[in-house]
Amino acid sequence: MMSDAFKAVQVTEKVWWVGAIDWNIRDFHGYMTGRGTSWNAYIVMGDEPILIDAVKKDGLDEMKARIGSVIDPESIQHIVSNHTEMDHSGTLPELVEWLKPKTLFASRNGAKALPMHFDVGMDITAVEDLGSVNLGGSELTFIETRMVHWPDNMFTYYANDGVLFSSDGFGMHLASAERFTDEINPTEIHHESAKYFANILLPFTPQLARVLEKVEGLNLPGQVIASDHGPIWRGGLDRIVGQYSKWCEQEPTTKAVIVFDSMWDSTKAMAASIADGVYGAGAHPHVTSARATHRSDIMTEVLDAGALLVGSCTLNNNIFPSIADLMTYMKGLRPRNLIGAAFGSYGWSGEAVKQLNAILEAMKVDVVHEGIRVKWVPTQEDLAQCRELGEMVGKMLVDTCDGA
Ligand code: FEO
Repeated sequence: MMSDAFKAVQVTEKVWWVGAIDWNIRDFHGYMTGRGTSWNAYIVMGDEPILIDAVKKDGLDEMKARIGSVIDPESIQHIVSNHTEMDHSGTLPELVEWLKPKTLFASRNGAKALPMHFDVGMDITAVEDLGSVNLGGSELTFIETRMVHWPDNMFTYYANDGVLFSSDGFGMHLASAERFTDEINPTEIHHESAKYFANILLPFTPQLARVLEKVEGLNLPGQVIASDHGPIWRGGLDRIVGQYSKWCEQEPTTKAVIVFDSMWDSTKAMAASIADGVYGAGAHPHVTSARATHRSDIMTEVLDAGALLVGSCTLNNNIFPSIADLMTYMKGLRPRNLIGAAFGSYGWSGEAVKQLNAILEAMKVDVVHEGIRVKWVPTQEDLAQCRELGEMVGKMLVDTCDGA
């Protein structure tokens, strides 16, 4: 028997949210989801009801209960799959078997990718970019949004109620019973949106900027952005679209992220002196330990920074493991428009700074200093040199931002 513990939530006159909330997930592909997430799916009511997206495997029962709370499941005639990644498609085979829809729509790349994940159990109808369909009076337009977040992604616009189903775009990992962003503290919404952008979408900002232009060019009279993660945006949509444009630009600010790890506090002391110099030049240091702070939270800080200063002691001829982990993760996310430098203490070999310089250069960070290496414990002179590095970086940030 289907559970009656879960109810659908009305979004607009014809649209209902029927997803699943994952209160307990704490890791999503290396991203610490400290507040959980939701896997969103929606029903569009009408003469031919439509299911938009599915949920992750373990959310199936909850989703089925929410669907059953608002509609006779057998009346659902179509499914739209905006994204192949399995947090949104993993339950499609079970849903197809349960609902027996007439059509399953996906983008051209989605139609190729879905069968490479599982047997969906029916033919897939590939839709053209900007193609429209009228399904029993419901007007849908499909908008290809490649690399937001995979090559198969698309948005679906439901014209009747002005709802943009944006898949991974404009999402956030935030579990909440409140289903709308305007029901939640705006500071939390901004933070979780920024964290999601920095850790999921940042590598794809060139493609994302083109998608934003394309969507703006369509002049859709949108009232609601319904993404596949976290709460739904309604009203004030310009604000989040404008924020996305700003994040895509990654214009430098006067914030310098100083991230380090340290065995006997020597590199830690260097980080503190660099921060003092940054502040003395009128810029804004943000000091963080790579061992104490999760990589995904450090990335959130880097999103709106102008400088990245990385400190590592040398351990067995190498960068310290926490810093190596962070830099591998950060390199893949491709932050842009950063100046940077490396620093660190060592005992006898001291390779870490040189290795960090190579990583920073590979990341296309503008390395503005050869780096500071200190043998064993920094002297007052060493710390003064660190402060000078901070001042130099801080002044460069202030000059760049003043000239912008
Ligand atoms: Fe939420 Fe790319 O999946």
